[in-house]
Amino acid sequence: MINPKEIRKDFPIFENNPNLIYFDNTATTQKPRQVIEKIKEVYEKYYANIHRGVYKISEISSEEYENSHKLVADFIKCKEWREIIFTRNTTESINLVAYSYGLNNIKKDDKILISYMEHSSNLLPWRFVCRKTGAKLEYINVKDYKLDLDDFERKIDEKTKIVSITHVSNVLGTINPIEEIIKIAHEKGALVLIDAAQSSGHLSINVKKLDVDFLVFSSHKMLGPSGIGVLYGKEELLENMEPFLWGGDMIKDIDFDKEYLNDLPWKFEAGTPNIVDGIAFGEAVKYLNKLGMKNIEKYEQELTKYFLERFEEFSNKYKDVILMGSNDYKDREAIFSLVFKINPHIIGKMLDSYNISVRTGYHCCYILFRHLDLYKYKGSVRASLYIYNTKEEIDFFFEKLEEIVKRFGS
Ligand SMILES: Cc1ncc(COP(=O)(O)O)c(C=O)c1O
Repeated sequence: MINPKEIRKDFPIFENNPNLIYFDNTATTQKPRQVIEKIKEVYEKYYANIHRGVYKISEISSEEYENSHKLVADFIKCKEWREIIFTRNTTESINLVAYSYGLNNIKKDDKILISYMEHSSNLLPWRFVCRKTGAKLEYINVKDYKLDLDDFERKIDEKTKIVSITHVSNVLGTINPIEEIIKIAHEKGALVLIDAAQSSGHLSINVKKLDVDFLVFSSHKMLGPSGIGVLYGKEELLENMEPFLWGGDMIKDIDFDKEYLNDLPWKFEAGTPNIVDGIAFGEAVKYLNKLGMKNIEKYEQELTKYFLERFEEFSNKYKDVILMGSNDYKDREAIFSLVFKINPHIIGKMLDSYNISVRTGYHCCYILFRHLDLYKYKGSVRASLYIYNTKEEIDFFFEKLEEIVKRFGS
């Protein structure tokens, strides 16, 4: 069972900002004391560079850094922790695959399939690969705020080499049927990358069961520090890929005309990594494990259901306000993008005057707003909730939203 009032006690941000209503969890989440303390512990007790140390504190930090990889591997149920590569963020993980796999394996007239609901990070690297290789980028339609699977089946063919899809939309909250997508893509011989930036801290993920080829996410969106991201890749794919960055730590030895690449995952972690945040990320994973991902899913569904009920009351009075996303709490996450006729930034600023933090604009999904013909409204006001949010906060949000709309119009 999730008790948000108890959970809040673990988050110093709420102690220091007692009236803060933090509804911007899609952008980044707050950090529990356990993660913050771990950062302090490493710097104060055993900070040293990893891997090449023959002395004690370097051995401790190396072990802790490796252990974080193992915790993440267990968290998403992969075969070997060698399959977990730490990057800077989701964006870098996708770029790693685009450069190392894409540029070397995608040919002219091949096809890469993404959808209209992708974040810029899962669009621009593929557009770049297509520009370099002469391959074609195609978009799967979004219909009724969901991925149009018929359109996917129409567009996927033997020329499709990569399907790169978000697990959960950072604008619509839609949870995509990734099991089905992976199965269909594999039948056509395409590899699948799942962008789990919005799902990794919210839904249980089992990469083995999914049989997904690559899965990427960011620590900072799941209670961990910023500056650490994850690329999961199937071992045999990673073994056959060229390094993304070249330099120290990603090699075992160098001769005058040849270098001997390091084992996974280090082959893809060139240079001194983000040691401290990588170690502290492990604490975030432990924290989520302690709460239990199934409990988190259940509590978020409860919040989602409540938010949708309150929105229905609100939209009965203000009929022209659009909720971009399904009104069925079962197939979505607690990410709510509201579109008004007035500029969303005005509403966001006004909400901030009541200590409610939301994000406004296009949320790096320009293509989605264009596809849905909503671009003209300058984006949406997005409220995104997490384990420390409460129903009382949702009530306060709608109370203040109504005051704002009465004053400025909807
Ligand atoms: C679905 C999705 N993909 C990718 C990203 C990029 O994540 P990062 O900025 O951590 O690289 C985000 C960030 O909001 C996202 O929501």
